[in-house]
Amino acid sequence: MKVLVIGSGAREHALAQAVARSGNVKKIHVAPGNGGTAIMGGKVENLPLKATDVEGLVDFAISESVDLTVVGPEQPLELGIVDRFREKGLRIVGPTASAARLETSKSFAKDFMRRYGIPSADYRVFAAAPEARAFVESLCDGDFPRVVKASGLAAGKGVVVAETRAQALQAIAEMFEERVFGDAADEVVIESFLKGEEASVFVLTDGTDYRLFLPSQDHKRIGEGDTGKNTGGMGAYAPAPLVTPEIMRLVEERVIVPALEGMRMEGHPYTGFLYVGLMIDNGEPSVVEFNARLGDPEAQAVLPLLDSDFVAALEASLDGRLSDVPFEMKPGAATTVVLAAGGYPDRYETGRKITIGAGFPASDNVMLFHAGTVSRQGALETSGGRVLSVTAVAPTLRESIDVAYGAIRHVEFDGAYYRRDIGAKAFRRGATG
Ligand code: AMP
Ligand code: GLY
Repeated sequence: MKVLVIGSGAREHALAQAVARSGNVKKIHVAPGNGGTAIMGGKVENLPLKATDVEGLVDFAISESVDLTVVGPEQPLELGIVDRFREKGLRIVGPTASAARLETSKSFAKDFMRRYGIPSADYRVFAAAPEARAFVESLCDGDFPRVVKASGLAAGKGVVVAETRAQALQAIAEMFEERVFGDAADEVVIESFLKGEEASVFVLTDGTDYRLFLPSQDHKRIGEGDTGKNTGGMGAYAPAPLVTPEIMRLVEERVIVPALEGMRMEGHPYTGFLYVGLMIDNGEPSVVEFNARLGDPEAQAVLPLLDSDFVAALEASLDGRLSDVPFEMKPGAATTVVLAAGGYPDRYETGRKITIGAGFPASDNVMLFHAGTVSRQGALETSGGRVLSVTAVAPTLRESIDVAYGAIRHVEFDGAYYRRDIGAKAFRRGATG
């Protein structure tokens, strides 16, 4: 069969690789892909169409008789790519635009969680600055920090954790008046601050049944010890011992089951990948956010741990028979370390030559996923802030960390930066690996 993977990050490289492992796949197109998917070789080929070129992608899928399409990022979901593919009778994994509002509209997601009693932070939604300001002025000093969020998609940047009233007022001015997030801040959510530690749980669902991937943890800050600015994610590992089997049970009972049921009852069943972003405090999970896709960099750790046939599971999710297929995880653990351009998440340079030393221990268990890379006349150059990620799968978390860090030393470009403490937080939680 022919598969189309949409997106250009390391997550999509990992998706392409997971698809390539399935026996039945003859050809994989990645649109637009990156320098890594360009050189996977064999059955994988980049397709020069943007992830947001919905009509171009529909036309390609029809003319090339693509059997299955998998969407990586959120923007095409918001544009209704799943709706358009389905209208044309094409098979595509992902939620419709109206189901994807669990990610693309935080006001929708918050109201939805309230309707179904899904644990999450208290909040108010505002459509204009004066009301938001009056609300912030009415709070006591002890009500801070508060979290101010642009409701719409803001490339992961529309969230301000305001430590003080002044910071909250500034965020309101930036969102409503300076329009730094554009239309994404037509509505602004102000919510209470959740204490605890974050974890990510991904499910694949056909709208009714669902299967769980292993729980993971992202490392969002640029600096070691979770310090400095927020980034797109500097590394991840799975499984995360923070999410004990008991917590996973609570997440299923209090979050996943009511969310899927609520979406069905409201006439927009949720299909595809659902990302449950959790805050866990004293064994109690609450939802920080839903995303309508897999996380990046978590996917690069979670997908290589899937032992059963990925494409068979995707196909089953489209046919409503997800409970009939195996969905097994490998024993052991995976660690992903992101290699970024110096200066990221602020200004950084591109066009730096990348060398991957002959000593890079590539194998079925050690993978190099590209993100901000381009392949020019056979040479690899940086083209983004997060450039590559290295994933190692090993019998224990400790070994997967050691192998990932041993491998990343063989990848070089001017200014390359990575955090040295990916996975370390697991050991605070009593991981024994
Ligand atoms: P979001 O895009 O909603 O996930 O927010 C981005 C990040 O901001 C989250 O991953 C958290 O680190 C932080 N955050 C968002 N909402 C809250 C909250 N209510 N309490 C504490 N931290 C939050
Ligand atoms: N890892 C965070 C995200 O993908 O949104």
